[in-house]
Amino acid sequence: MRKIRFASIYLFTLSVVFFVLGTYTELHFITLISKIKHQSSGYQEYLHLVFFLSGFLALCSIYFAEKMEVKILSQANYALQNQIIKGERTEEALRKSREKNKYLYAEAKHAEKVYRSLLHSSADAIVVYDLEGRAGYISPVFTQIFGWTLEELKGKQIPFLPEFERESTMAIIKDLVEQGTPCHGFETKRYTKDGRLLEVSISASRYDDHKGKPAGTLVILRDISEKKKIEAYMQYVERMEAVGTLAGGIAHDFNNLMMGMLGNISLILYDIEPSHLHYEKLKNVEKLIQSGSKLTKQLLGYARKGKYEVKSIDLNQIVKGNSETFGRTRKNITIHREFAQGLHPVKADESQIEQVLINLFINAADAMPDGGDLFLQTMNVTHREMKNKSYDPKPGNYVLLRVADKGTGMDKKTIERIFEPFFTTKEMGRGSGLGLASVYGIVKGHGGYIDVDSKKGYGTTFIIYLPVSNQSVQKTVKTYERIIKGNETVMLVDDEGVVIDVGVQLLKKLGYNVLEAGNGKEAIRVFSEKSDKVDMVILDMIMPDIGGGEVYDRIKEIDPKVKVLLSSGYSIDGQATDILERGCNGFIQKPFNMEAMSKKIREILNKN
Ligand SMILES: Nc1ncnc2c1ncn2[C@@H]1O[C@H](COP(=O)(O)OP(=O)(O)OP(=O)(O)O)[C@@H](O)[C@H]1O
Ligand SMILES: [Mg+2]
Repeated sequence: MRKIRFASIYLFTLSVVFFVLGTYTELHFITLISKIKHQSSGYQEYLHLVFFLSGFLALCSIYFAEKMEVKILSQANYALQNQIIKGERTEEALRKSREKNKYLYAEAKHAEKVYRSLLHSSADAIVVYDLEGRAGYISPVFTQIFGWTLEELKGKQIPFLPEFERESTMAIIKDLVEQGTPCHGFETKRYTKDGRLLEVSISASRYDDHKGKPAGTLVILRDISEKKKIEAYMQYVERMEAVGTLAGGIAHDFNNLMMGMLGNISLILYDIEPSHLHYEKLKNVEKLIQSGSKLTKQLLGYARKGKYEVKSIDLNQIVKGNSETFGRTRKNITIHREFAQGLHPVKADESQIEQVLINLFINAADAMPDGGDLFLQTMNVTHREMKNKSYDPKPGNYVLLRVADKGTGMDKKTIERIFEPFFTTKEMGRGSGLGLASVYGIVKGHGGYIDVDSKKGYGTTFIIYLPVSNQSVQKTVKTYERIIKGNETVMLVDDEGVVIDVGVQLLKKLGYNVLEAGNGKEAIRVFSEKSDKVDMVILDMIMPDIGGGEVYDRIKEIDPKVKVLLSSGYSIDGQATDILERGCNGFIQKPFNMEAMSKKIREILNKN
């Protein structure tokens, strides 16, 4: 285009020059030319026209060329503009895409930060596995709970799966990896680095890579050992409640039945001489009934019930008395006593503490069938000396009682189960497995603690801590004569016909004048009519209309000086203690024989 333009301008300039030359120097020029060419000058006068025409043509061609150029240029310009617009758009799109990518990158970085902090700050342990079960990530909490660090485990399988959990765990992993089935709250066990076995709850899900292909699993492990302990404790409490209800029901009915039997045997034995043909047999029946009542006592002890007469007692005196009696029955056991001087009193039900001692002594003796040494020790301690225990003792002062033998001892498995009711290693008929269960229940029921230390072949030590009482020791006057008679008037209140029946006869045999009442209402009526004659009331606790507690208050209103002996086979928690604390003079547990009844009555009537 540029060349055509130059050529046209060149030709046009040339034709203009020729035209001017042709016009003004026509002749000279023509002559000159004809001289040079030796030709006639017929056409020379039109030569300038030729030049002019060619110049004009050149001008036209320039004009059209210019037009063409403008068109082509505008087309090119248009195309260029289009290209520029396109370019700008592309650039804009690129810029936008760059910005978007930047934003997405920032978003991804942020999301990663959030996830990392989530994994880091989760209260549960988190592990990210590949599909082969190798750990790629473990959270700091995992290290805290299980002990391994990320450096120790990265790219490796975690060696914490117990063999006995392998099968169930593998089934879940298979479903998770192959089907993508997530798992929620799978309760199982895992080892820690230092070999402890933890209860854990596992939740897991599979995750995919950017192409949507399964890439690994994310596993959350929650340590539920504490929760399991609480659950076990709650179950234990529920079991205790159930045993308590059962024991209460049995104790109430059973003890009333046995009261009837024991009372009648007592009456027969009272009437016959020891030389009588059936005396020994009847004595055996009496013993069997007493064993039966011991069983209900053990059950009540285990169920933390049957705590009736709570008072400040001197443990030294009780341990001494009971161990001496026990020593007389097991001559091959040598008893060593080391009692603390100035031992604090403890607030306890004496008969339950005696039950604890007898159970421990019998167990120790059973562990030394060929005889041996039994060590008894008492001491004043505080909660500060009760360190490193599985329990956290309530702050305060305690009295310690140690009962140690050099007998067979126990293995670990036995020790774990000794406080379970009905757990026994003794042959059928020799042990009910209720001894230590009741010891445990009674100690707990008194706000105390019990420890056991035993080694197979080396002997066993039981240590009991009982909270100290802030009252001084209340002395009990024990009467040791066999049967002591009296002549006062006693009113017997009981809703059980069999108890009234036998009780009235026993009292009469003992020399007393007897008034009777078959229920609470009748008791209040009889007492209000004859209160001046009544020296003592033997009062049953559980009666359907008006219970022993209310009867007690009503008769005390009528005569505040009247003496009352509470009698029961079983009392609902704390009821007997309540009445005794209101000033009731004593308590006798059914079933009782004539001897026990006579002693108890005299203990109360002899007191001023
Ligand atoms: N001093 C001890 N030495 C060795 N083993 C003991 C000792 N005390 C208890 N045991 C073990 O604990 C078990 C449970 O004792 P526990 O007193 O509860 O029941 P038991 O003695 O078998 O039966 P029960 O006391 O009801 O007659 C015993 O069977 C025995 O194996
Ligand atoms: Mg026992």
